[in-house]
Order: sequence, then C-alpha cells, then structure tokens
Amino acid sequence: MLVLGIETSCDETGVALYDSARGLLAHEVHSQAALHAEYGGVVPELASRDHIRRTLPLVRRVLARAGARLDELDAVAYTEGPGLAGALLVGASIASGIAYGLGVPALGVHHLEGHLLSPLLSRTPPAFPFVALLVSGGHTQLMEVAGVGRYRLLGETLDDAAGEAFDKTAQVLGLGYPGGPALAQLADRGRRGRHRLPRPMIASGDLEFSFSGLKTAVLTLVRSAVLDEGTKADVAAEFQEAVVDVLVAKCRAALASTGHRRLVIAGGVGANRRLRERLDAAAATGGFEVFYPELALCTDNGAMIALAGALRLQASAPRDYAFTVRPRWDLAALPAAG
Ligand code: KG4
Ligand code: ZN
Repeated sequence: MLVLGIETSCDETGVALYDSARGLLAHEVHSQAALHAEYGGVVPELASRDHIRRTLPLVRRVLARAGARLDELDAVAYTEGPGLAGALLVGASIASGIAYGLGVPALGVHHLEGHLLSPLLSRTPPAFPFVALLVSGGHTQLMEVAGVGRYRLLGETLDDAAGEAFDKTAQVLGLGYPGGPALAQLADRGRRGRHRLPRPMIASGDLEFSFSGLKTAVLTLVRSAVLDEGTKADVAAEFQEAVVDVLVAKCRAALASTGHRRLVIAGGVGANRRLRERLDAAAATGGFEVFYPELALCTDNGAMIALAGALRLQASAPRDYAFTVRPRWDLAALPAAG
C-alpha cells in the first residue's frame, strides 16, 4: 500500500511517501522557522499561507525522489489534529482534494500518534507493548502503548511542555526562536552544576511533570548574574540537565509501574543528545531497551503521518471525503485499529 503523508499542524510542512511493503521511500520537510523568527513565535496566519505555498511543490518533489506517479497512490493521510486550525485545514483540504481526484481514501491522522509510531520506521523497531515518552513543543506525556490506537495516558505535564521550556528558556538567554536546538548546543559547551536549578516534581511519586517553574528559576538566576557567554553556557547546561533528570526519572518510574521493558522516545525533544546519552545509560543498568526515531524524524514530518495512516488503513478505510480538523484532540480517546 503506497501512502502519501501530509503534515501541516504547525510550522513545518512535511510530505512523505511510505510503502507498507518497502518502507519509507522519500520525505521532505520545509521549516518555517525563518518566517516566524522575527515575531519570536509562530504566527498562525503566516503559517497557513506558507503551507499553501509549500505543500504541492513538496508533493511533486517527494514523488520525483521516489520515482513514483500520483496515480500509483493507494491513499493520502494528513494530520487532522491537534495543531493550528488554519494550518491543519490546508493539509486536510489538499490531501482530501488529491485523494478525491484519484478516487482513493483520505485519512485524518492524530499528530501525536504519528510521533508515537515514528520509531517503527527505524532499522530496529520496537515491538508492542511499550511505554512511550512524547516530548514535543506542545506535549509532554507518558503513554502505555499496547498496539496501534491502544494508548493509555500514564501522566503528563501540568503546565509547559518540555520543548516549550527549552524554547522559553532559550528566549530568556537571548537565543531567539525556535531556541530548543540552540540551547542544547550551548549546553554542550557549559558546566552543569555551577548554578543549581530545581528538578520539578522529580519526587512527586506520580508520573506528572511541571516545567514552567524551571523557566522562572532561570529568569531569576540570570537577573542576579552577569550574563557573559560562559555563564550563559553554564546555565544552559544546568537547565538541560534538570529537564533530562526529570524525564529520565519519570521514564524509569513509568517502566517500573507498568512492568514493561521497552521505552520509546518521540517528539522534537527526543533529538536532544544529552537526553539520549542519559537514557542509554539508564537502559544499560536498568534492564530495559530504549528506541528512538531517526534524528530527522524526531521533529514534525510527513513520514510519521504516512506511516500512521498506512497502519490504520490496513484495519479500515474511510468511505467518503468529508473532512474536519481537531485543533484540540486527546490521544487516549482514539479508537484501536482493527
Ligand atoms: O515535535 P516537534 O517538532 O513539534 C511539536 O509537535 O511540538 O517538537 C518541537 C520542539 C521544540 O520545542 C524544539 O525546541 C524542541 O522540540 N527541540 C529540542 C531539540 N530539537 C528540537 N529540544 C531540545 N533539544 C533538541 N536537540
Ligand atoms: Zn510534533
């Protein structure tokens, strides 16, 4: 089954072609980071308009790269939510239009389900069941995953998401938008422990998170310090270590409470090198395995949408071309596939 995947939930246009027999054939992502940089955050209307400009050229490029023709598609999958309403509508309407024109099914996919299943695209995919940590710009959730669509929420953030905390702290340190990756890079040059930051809720005894206080603690810290380059790097290193400490501790607790021995990391913060290093070390001593998506598939992309679409279509196909978008959508409310 050859599935075209279209992701337009936020500030990346992602398009991919996935074949259920041959795997991922091609994928392309256009980032709008430069477009939104001068505003310090995503401007929804600009995002929608840019998705309109980028999606069809990316579809053509992906097809050319894969050596495939449009009329060979068996289905088109798109991100139905959660995300920005206007941005989602662009992907949903283009995908439904292509599918209608070809007479093949169009399927709306949950963005977080895409992230969650993205490690299945890697060379050593995890088997079900597993515990998944979803760490993106909008979400920080621990889920128990028994199969496609069989998700149980174990715990989530009470306020900011981990990626959001990276981005906001980066802004406090003057690193611009989106600051997560830049902050991580700076942290590699700094000394952790020189300035002490809290590890919010690390001993709360549950699987909930809270990251907004950490950003405030950084703000207090930088107000009382001379912010030269060395200090900035040290604060970045300590901030990153605080987030990683909490994420690793909660992952271990989730594995212990469910009894599972496989951990999947998904979402943009999953690209963080220090997080991977620490999780690998914890896995080596803790008797569990950890699985990551390929680095390029950690952040938003069309490949995860094409994959999730293909897995759901194998179970059942939609029969019409009516579509909607769901800017807010609870992952645990999804039906099981099949
Ligand atoms: O999954 P994603 O692309 O978009 C959402 O669905 O939110 O995640 C984006 C988030 C941003 O907050 C970004 O700063 C963060 O992931 N991020 C990172 C790194 N790369 C991306 N955070 C920490 N370290 C990184 N290397
Ligand atoms: Zn995402």
